[in-house]
Amino acid sequence: MHFQWYPGHMSKAKRMMQEDMKLIDVIIELVDARIPLSSKNPDINQMAGSKSRVILLNKCDLADDSQNLKWKEYFEGQGYIAALVNSKKGDGIRKVNDAVMEACKAKIERDRRKGILNRPLRAMVVGIPNVGKSTFINSISGKAAAKTGNKPGVTKGKQWIKLNKSIELLDTPGILWPKFEDQQVGLHLALIGSIREDILNSYDLSLSLITFLTKYYKGALTERYGITESDIPEENLTAVAKKRACLLKGGELDLEKASGFIVDDFRNAKLGKVTLEFPAEPAEDVVLPIND
Ligand code: G4P
Repeated sequence: MHFQWYPGHMSKAKRMMQEDMKLIDVIIELVDARIPLSSKNPDINQMAGSKSRVILLNKCDLADDSQNLKWKEYFEGQGYIAALVNSKKGDGIRKVNDAVMEACKAKIERDRRKGILNRPLRAMVVGIPNVGKSTFINSISGKAAAKTGNKPGVTKGKQWIKLNKSIELLDTPGILWPKFEDQQVGLHLALIGSIREDILNSYDLSLSLITFLTKYYKGALTERYGITESDIPEENLTAVAKKRACLLKGGELDLEKASGFIVDDFRNAKLGKVTLEFPAEPAEDVVLPIND
């Protein structure tokens, strides 16, 4: 399995982010609630230095509710202020302001002692591609968002979105690259659709997904496709192909097509709310179909 990556893009994004970091007090890091570890790049820890941190488990609407709570606790246990959000619908967005204030409590207190009052906190959103950064920024800004620095005479420089009297948000997010040289990470990113389709075929993806589902989400395939689940992933795929009448011209089963259905259904949460990584027990049991 090979994933394409572009070192040039990555180092440029990293440089830009390092510049932006100098301007802010707090980092709002988005991860995908279905794969909180694989959608997180540990490089951010070193880049962030001692900045305040908020971690948002975005797309929580697609992930398992009980795992969402466990992940929130997990990150809180690591000292983050964590929250669950659905940026698409706006759920949980209002709590983010409080989370930012909470994360910056020590800084606000330090400023107060120095006599600095009412200086807005400056925040920046970071995350891997497709995690929902733009959707989140639009959602938290709302229509009434006022841009500062966008006045006549101010032509260059950063655009800040004033969220309220206490918080300003940089309007461009920082892009983190996932650690997709790790194959498990690559598989999980491919399953949620963050890696280009042609890099991994849907047949391999669906077999890994089926293996995982029959172990951790028993009954999900039965409920969706009306099949009897087997311990052999290929048998489940064949059963789905039959149920969905996925046939090639000669009448042979079209397993690629059935695979595509299953992976799409997972991405759209039609197989239920599924989380691929568990905090106490990373999903190391997923069988990786490594062919090369
Ligand atoms: P990025 O800036 O980090 O690259 O991500 P972006 O906001 O473009 O979001 C990527 C995709 O994820 C979008 O879907 C967006 O609608 C979806 N998304 C973002 N946040 C959430 C969320 O909390 N829940 C759900 N279910 N989806 C979310 P898309 O397929 O590119 O477009 P569309 O489906 O909105 O048409």
